[in-house]
Amino acid sequence: MDFSRCFAKKSVLDIQREVGTAKLKRTLGPMNLISLGIGCIIGTGIFVLSGHAAALHAGPAVVLSFVLAGIACAFAALCYAELASVLPISGSAYTYAYATLGESMAWVMGWLLLLEYGVASATVAVGWSGYVVSFLHTVGLDIPLQWANPYGGTFKRPDGTEGTGIFNLPAFLGVAGVSALLVAGIQESARVNNVIVCIKLAVIVTFIVVGAYHIDAANWHPFIPENTGNFGDFGMSGVLSGASMIFFAYIGFEAVSTAAQEAKNPQRDMPFGILGALIVCTLLYILVSGVLTGIVPYTSLNVPDPIAVGVDAIGMPWLSFVVKIGAIMGLTSVMLVLIYGQTRIFFAMSRDGLLPPVFSTIHPKLKTPHIGTTLLGLLIALIAGLVPLKQLGDLVNMGTLVAFMIICFTVLYLRRKEPKLTRPFLCPAVPLVPILGIVSCFALILGLPRETYIYIGVWLVVGMLLYVSYGMQHSKIGINLQKAPKSVQAAVKKARKPVKKARKK
Ligand code: ALA
Repeated sequence: MDFSRCFAKKSVLDIQREVGTAKLKRTLGPMNLISLGIGCIIGTGIFVLSGHAAALHAGPAVVLSFVLAGIACAFAALCYAELASVLPISGSAYTYAYATLGESMAWVMGWLLLLEYGVASATVAVGWSGYVVSFLHTVGLDIPLQWANPYGGTFKRPDGTEGTGIFNLPAFLGVAGVSALLVAGIQESARVNNVIVCIKLAVIVTFIVVGAYHIDAANWHPFIPENTGNFGDFGMSGVLSGASMIFFAYIGFEAVSTAAQEAKNPQRDMPFGILGALIVCTLLYILVSGVLTGIVPYTSLNVPDPIAVGVDAIGMPWLSFVVKIGAIMGLTSVMLVLIYGQTRIFFAMSRDGLLPPVFSTIHPKLKTPHIGTTLLGLLIALIAGLVPLKQLGDLVNMGTLVAFMIICFTVLYLRRKEPKLTRPFLCPAVPLVPILGIVSCFALILGLPRETYIYIGVWLVVGMLLYVSYGMQHSKIGINLQKAPKSVQAAVKKARKPVKKARKK
């Protein structure tokens, strides 16, 4: 087996040329891109995990956790913005890695993105299910709780007795419905997304404004509850663990980069969309978490619908109703963008031969990758039905943090390797910003539970086995390289050597 193929790269110039001849319609302006970002960012992180992070790790200082995670994301976002402006092509971080670090790293990136998009959408579906169950309860419909919890997961009934879950049916159906919408066509999906983003923002702003009048400052004392003696249980380490947990709330800003080929002016609008969405969401998160922990004691927030609990405490049933509907719609839009992003990343990987062709087969009439979307939808729906929110969230965060670190490294690498490349957007203060990005993502990894380290290890080993047994054998670049005359193969190998020697000097 020729392992030098693992390092085969797509040329940056070829990708830029490919962008120039792409047939996709360029319809998205800067506001559409910010909307796409917000559609993907605001979801389970703020509607569910903010309450869990306050109750289990940080107390009212969850506000600081949001600031910490937001800073780490800002560094990564600046790096993403530079890469998205150099390589404005769908496939996002996967394509960046293919053009810079080589095929095996591109595979690792694609495999990590399956966590960041695919498994994250399952996580969002579980949060969505919590609000659906709560909403149905408000209108007098009670779903048996064993059918709204993952297999083996324990839950408390309203009468205080405990039960064990069988399958989270609402979460399963939520993913199935969104996948069906995506099979039907992206035009419809984009329109639905814009409407939902407006509703979601209206609900959140209403919560902040109305909630601000009902804050009891006593709930903010102590602001950082004393550490219990265990790492991550309140105190400063709790603020860090809270940040590692609610990092999930920021995932999605980079989804904007997956739409680069459909942007009207990607060079200018990509960075605007990515950073704009991140800034808007950070401000909203700080305000929502501050208001929430000011309305109710943080200890009461470890529930599937913490924002609804906060609103119930205000005693405005109409607002509670509105918040639940807003959360359900908002979480639907997150699932939509995440599953969309996942299908497009698999599309790119399949087109490159690293995944089976079914993932890039387009339906003749619907013009969507219908088989890939159906298969992925089914897999994600099953995960959503079977795995608890916390485990899913931790694994997604770990995978995404590793992916962000690779992105920051890629900016450093490309600046050194291809200094003359046209860069419409320059990440400021290089190498400081990418290095700070790597360090801050690593710090957030330290705040994650230790078992997550084992999960990610297993995930990466399985990924590498799949690469060696399928991706490497079917890679189009690899096959072309093999077909090329021996003299060309030798030239490609030789071309790598002077670079290595130059680096040594
Ligand atoms: N950031 C997204 C959410 O919080 C993934 O649901």
